[in-house]
Amino acid sequence: MEWTREKRYRRLDEASPEEMQQLGRQVDACPWRQTFHIQPRTGLLNDPNGFSYYNGYYHLFYQWFPLGPVHGLKYWYHMKSKDLVNWEDAGIGIEPDRYYDRHGAYSGSAIEYEDKLFLFYTGNTRDENWIRHPYQCLAVMDKTGCIKKLEEAVISTVPSGYTDHFRDPKIWKQGELFYAVIGAQRENETGCIVVYGSSNLTDWEFEGELETKLENFGYMWECPDYFEMDGQGVLIFSPQGLQPLGDEYQNIYQSGYLMGGSINLPDRNFDHGDFRELDRGFDFYAPQTMASPDGRRILVGWMGLPEIDYPTDKNGWAHCLTLPRELSAKNGRLVQKPVKELELLRKQESTAKVVLDNELQRIDGFTGTNYELLCEVSDFSADEFGIEFRACGGFKTVIKYDAVEKKVTLDRSDSGAEVGVEYGTTRSCNLNADKVVFHMFVDTSSVEIFLNEGEEVFTSRIFPDAGCDQIHFYAKNGRAAFNAKKWEL
Ligand code: FRU
Repeated sequence: MEWTREKRYRRLDEASPEEMQQLGRQVDACPWRQTFHIQPRTGLLNDPNGFSYYNGYYHLFYQWFPLGPVHGLKYWYHMKSKDLVNWEDAGIGIEPDRYYDRHGAYSGSAIEYEDKLFLFYTGNTRDENWIRHPYQCLAVMDKTGCIKKLEEAVISTVPSGYTDHFRDPKIWKQGELFYAVIGAQRENETGCIVVYGSSNLTDWEFEGELETKLENFGYMWECPDYFEMDGQGVLIFSPQGLQPLGDEYQNIYQSGYLMGGSINLPDRNFDHGDFRELDRGFDFYAPQTMASPDGRRILVGWMGLPEIDYPTDKNGWAHCLTLPRELSAKNGRLVQKPVKELELLRKQESTAKVVLDNELQRIDGFTGTNYELLCEVSDFSADEFGIEFRACGGFKTVIKYDAVEKKVTLDRSDSGAEVGVEYGTTRSCNLNADKVVFHMFVDTSSVEIFLNEGEEVFTSRIFPDAGCDQIHFYAKNGRAAFNAKKWEL
């Protein structure tokens, strides 16, 4: 089917129950439905939105186009959870039904204020010439879960000097005031972030641009997020338009962070270090963070990227969210660990211990398609060692450590159905270590690999056959001792 503009901008209530059932059946027939990740019932999921804790629940919304695996008229879909692991379906959160969001309720964030949860998002609109006019809008959720929109948008114009690529407000509170960062594009087509301030969340004032050292760094910065951690300021954003550079910037678009001194608002100068990518895998974009009630900074990302076809498209759905990760700061960098609540998912446990000398070994009974694997390799002389997983016949996904080059590589060349091959089939990063710990979460069609306590993370979709469940360990040119534990999830 050709996704014409008309089809992309159809509302969910224009689809008949039969059409939705039919689409649902198509989705159910997909061999790549996930088992412990948030995924859309039908259609396309993208950015996490409104990630927050309110009234005893974590709330996590996502960008959703219900009618097919394409970007179209976006809704916010609402999930809630007591523990970040077991999510309840709370239905549609925000529908695009007002003058200010009629072409999509785009990304945004949430903050609690006066006992309510304020959802601040971008209303996407297009005029008769299909020119974009973004609004920044407010919807308010009360303790019963009822979400009401304001009659008017709270920011209706783009300040001069910026184009209509102006979206994705992320709010935080500093002292008595609220601030929002918004992703923007300057008129000279470079990306940046602007800051707004408010005392009541309804009246907003343009403060100006956030001053970074990255004057010319891509053409648009999406989904900004600012928070402070251990007295340092962290600015996360997703720049578009960076060229590949060595192992960096290999995906169509990037997501990363700047870390430095805290921003001293209303002074908007940010003194920071280098831009670093948050994730080294193939499918990661537009992450958002929140502060948990016990003070942790938790991040969730979109496990997907725009403008790439995925093998699930033909089954009428696309994408999922990542698992929640706890962030911390170490030596001027962010470290990401799977939140400890994920242990709640652990079922049957098994172990495997092998010392390999220039060989590949499959351990009997040590298999799976949906599991957590924690594997430590501490004693090695091999030039290279690694793990092949979701393997069968000629298929496998490989995570390996090159001890000569001191590099980790994820290889999905032979994973199964192809995805995004025009952007390459391997991803690598440096890791200088005399012990390598692979902590992996494998779902039906994804893998998230945390290396050495979250120093680096590789997040990727993979599309193997259901029967590909083997796990192999190998060492090349020398020895490596593997000590692994696995839990069915
Ligand atoms: C990022 C993004 C945001 C926008 C949303 C629309 O993936 O392009 O900038 O608000 O998706 O779905």
